[in-house]
Amino acid sequence: MDWRTHSTGARHLYIHIPFCHRRCAYCDFNTYANMDDRMGAYTNALVNELHALPVERHPLSVPADPHPLLRADLPPTIFLGGGTPSMLPLDQMEQILQAASAVVPFAGAEITVECNPGTVLGKDYLRQLHGMGVNRISMGVQSLNDPLLRMLGRIHTAAEARVSYEDARAVGFDSVNLDFIFGLPGQTPADWHDTLAQAVTWDVDHFAIYSLILEESTPLYAQVQGGRLSVPDDDITGAMYEHTMEFLGARGYHQYEISNWARGPLTGPGGLPKHAGLHNVAYWLNAAYHAAGAGAHGHIDGKRFVDVLAVEDYITRAGMLSSPLRETTDLSPTDVLAETMMMGLRLNMGVSYAHVIDRTGFDIRQTHGSVLADTIAEGLLIADELGIRLTERGRMYGNQVFQRFL
Ligand SMILES: C[S@@+](CC[C@H](N)C(=O)[O-])C[C@H]1O[C@@H](n2cnc3c(N)ncnc32)[C@H](O)[C@@H]1O
Ligand code: SF4
Repeated sequence: MDWRTHSTGARHLYIHIPFCHRRCAYCDFNTYANMDDRMGAYTNALVNELHALPVERHPLSVPADPHPLLRADLPPTIFLGGGTPSMLPLDQMEQILQAASAVVPFAGAEITVECNPGTVLGKDYLRQLHGMGVNRISMGVQSLNDPLLRMLGRIHTAAEARVSYEDARAVGFDSVNLDFIFGLPGQTPADWHDTLAQAVTWDVDHFAIYSLILEESTPLYAQVQGGRLSVPDDDITGAMYEHTMEFLGARGYHQYEISNWARGPLTGPGGLPKHAGLHNVAYWLNAAYHAAGAGAHGHIDGKRFVDVLAVEDYITRAGMLSSPLRETTDLSPTDVLAETMMMGLRLNMGVSYAHVIDRTGFDIRQTHGSVLADTIAEGLLIADELGIRLTERGRMYGNQVFQRFL
């Protein structure tokens, strides 16, 4: 049966907006500059795809599971990511949100829009987004060092990022995430400390902090390969990460995932911080979610699917009301196990044995006993009677741990 034709239990929705003013030097996301004239056609295509998604008719059943997050259950979530959703004209944003609300009802939902701070200068756009029911903003700030921002090809300065952040708060957003990247070419530990120290004075609820990934297809990669720029070595980036954990921890931020910190109180589902980003938590729990838009990935009923990547292709196929679906993959139990472990171990609370059994049928104490014993002996994992989680050192070498479950 086609995944669109029946109800699925999925109540999380990702929507991809593949437009940017300018491509940043480090970014290989599915996004395009100078295609603003295709936004209207893209919005129409997206609305078509959203209308074709199966509407949730049955409340999600919550398995009796000692994993604290599953016991508490997550609210529905909608996440408009990109690219730069905040480039969309407001009337198009409204059409998309309206179509999305038929897939995941807005009542009680976390609704996030990703914004580039350089696109939301002036309060008007943010105020109207808030008026449409959006209740969380995620802004890419990346650094508060202007020469580094220029080197990255960002379209805003540090001061402009601050104004956009404050505007978001002023128009009523009480949940705002800021993205930062460390390990940038030419960045010293002192530069990174300055960015962090400034950012915490803004009274930010949530930080997503990524270590730079040098993606092969990007201009930054070519500059580093060509010797025109150099990145800090692994010891220095490791020390920057450790400093981040220590510095934010000492200022009341709870790290709840490898790259995510939020301020208390711990009143979110399952004892997560109130401002934790729950859409991403759904991914880390390997929950079912819908996805719409060029190159968007979804996960429903033991299948992964990905929509066509190119904007024009997407517009044509969704516009004709034919399926824009590019590819569907049936997941084997071992695929699901690898994904459940890889995603779940990113959370600081880790994964419970019962959660893995519920998702995959495997009891990892039996199927992966020696992997667990070795990884615990190396100081990368901690086990208790409910499950396993990464140690602080394990968080620095997360990828090595995840691979052992592949
Ligand atoms: C879709 S963007 C955020 C919204 C908006 N497009 C912007 O950049 O302001 C998602 C985030 O991914 C992170 N990111 C993108 N490419 C990265 C890379 N190569 N290494 C580390 N982080 C990266 C950045 O922090 C970025 O803010
Ligand atoms: S980081 Fe954000 S603004 Fe920059 S190219 Fe990627 S999606 Fe676009």
